[in-house]
Amino acid sequence: MATVTIRWRRRKAAVEAHIGQKLLGVVLRSGFPLAHRCNGNAICGTCMVRVKSGMEHLNPPEDIEIYRLSGVRDGPNDRLACQARLVSEGDVSLFLPEVVEE
Ligand code: FES
Repeated sequence: MATVTIRWRRRKAAVEAHIGQKLLGVVLRSGFPLAHRCNGNAICGTCMVRVKSGMEHLNPPEDIEIYRLSGVRDGPNDRLACQARLVSEGDVSLFLPEVVEE
């Protein structure tokens, strides 16, 4: 079991999650908003989140995620929530975009 702490604006929630779950599903279960226009197919890039800590508990980005994030992410801590999944137990902390894309 992993714990994902999600921060959006001034709010925070901690969500229990299983190994293998993608961050997008965990975030949506928290009740916080996160755009996901392409329904998790790594096409739109709207589900980008910033991982504050716990990157070691996530799968490394695959080629399709690296390609989609190229030119739009600010650093290596930005991930597509639809592609990042939990691979080990532990704590992951992340920030959601302040503005929710429609
Ligand atoms: S939902 Fe479109 S890239 Fe993640």
